[in-house]
Amino acid sequence: MSNIAVLGAQWGDEGKGKIVDLFCERFDIVARYQGGHNAGHTVRIGERRFVLKLVPTGILRPDKQVVIGNGVVVDPAALLEEIRDLEHAGIRVHGRLAISNRAHVIFPFHRMVEKISEARPDRVAIGTTSRGIGPCYEDKTGRRGIRMGDLVDRESFPELYRALAEDKQILARAFQLKETIDFDAIRRRYAELAECLRPMVCDTAALLNRAIASGRRVLFEGAQGTMLDIDHGTYPFVTSSNATAGGAATGTGVPPTRIHGVIGVSKAYTTRVGGGPFPTEVRGQEGDRLREAGNEFGAVTGRPRRCGWFDVPVVRYTAMINGFDSLVITKLDVLDDLDPIPVCVAYRLNGREITDMPDTHRALEAVEPVYEFLPGWRSTTSGLTRYEDLPSRARQYLQFLAERTGVEIGCISTGPERAQTIFVPGSKLEALLAGA
Ligand code: IMP
Repeated sequence: MSNIAVLGAQWGDEGKGKIVDLFCERFDIVARYQGGHNAGHTVRIGERRFVLKLVPTGILRPDKQVVIGNGVVVDPAALLEEIRDLEHAGIRVHGRLAISNRAHVIFPFHRMVEKISEARPDRVAIGTTSRGIGPCYEDKTGRRGIRMGDLVDRESFPELYRALAEDKQILARAFQLKETIDFDAIRRRYAELAECLRPMVCDTAALLNRAIASGRRVLFEGAQGTMLDIDHGTYPFVTSSNATAGGAATGTGVPPTRIHGVIGVSKAYTTRVGGGPFPTEVRGQEGDRLREAGNEFGAVTGRPRRCGWFDVPVVRYTAMINGFDSLVITKLDVLDDLDPIPVCVAYRLNGREITDMPDTHRALEAVEPVYEFLPGWRSTTSGLTRYEDLPSRARQYLQFLAERTGVEIGCISTGPERAQTIFVPGSKLEALLAGA
């Protein structure tokens, strides 16, 4: 029985929340493998709207188990708040959520470090979500981080915490921070939070591998998007983890041989939040129009998203990095009134067309997008559920994207509701969801 990963093909916010919620009906477990509460997955079920940050989307279906894998960084206070909100909304979390004992813990001083590094005049601001995500991953790779297993271990936590706090005190002094940080109060607070989290913390790699061995199916849920991946994204304007398919293995402890399919989620156009290159960005009124039509404001920070046209080189590249078996195209209806619709099909750099993704942000800032203009369909696709009901020009647009990116389009989202979805008959996606 196949396990699949569902992840972003662009710069995040592709609408993965709805897609994971929809697809996970066929799976037993949903596992998050990277990122933290910088992610915001919005899911609408009838009149109710949920924004999930750390808890995997499968929580919205009562019969699913959910896992926060070792590749995720966990802010215990944010997680407990999210759990409380979900339980208030009538969604049972306790007994269904398992948190990896190897996931790293975010502390308030990680946000302090982030503030220092984002505000330094000699450093380019990344435009982060200010959640302490990057500094927590820095401590992880610096081999001084504290993991969930340490946090809930009453014996070892105080000692490990003291060493980490000392490190941050040195930093605070070096940067002559004016705000005082009460390190003892943080330790006491985290010891309390640990009591609430302890029942959920376990060896999730063992849990997942046992589940798979017994025939249960796992859906790996990506956060952010491939172009924000620490290795393959638009470095340094990236997040600090591997949002790509490889991250599903390292971030959960499930071997790559047990992940049988990778589904990319892409908008019918492009958006990004924060700084960094964005070749097809449209500014001014046209950009505002896309932002309004697509309601492009961050689910976590509320920041307006930068908007632009579909970028074939980006999705061709992310398809290569992840090995997408199928693409899900979301928010097609946002383009309903546009005619013609520009699609970037190639980049030109220093007068020459290039085929590979530039490795530096400077080169990507300098590329000129080469556009083709596709005829718009000028009718509403909102809420359609059958491929044959799409206007022929909308089908033409989708076929064009599939041909140019080299990946089939297996599913199209035509609105935020579960039912507002088209499955393309005979697709590889259908076979993967069926378990083939
Ligand atoms: P960080 O993840 O907070 O360190 O932010 C690094 C970059 O990733 C910034 O440009 C953020 O705007 C971006 N980012 C982080 N999480 C998300 C997300 O869930 N959607 C879109 N962009 C994100």
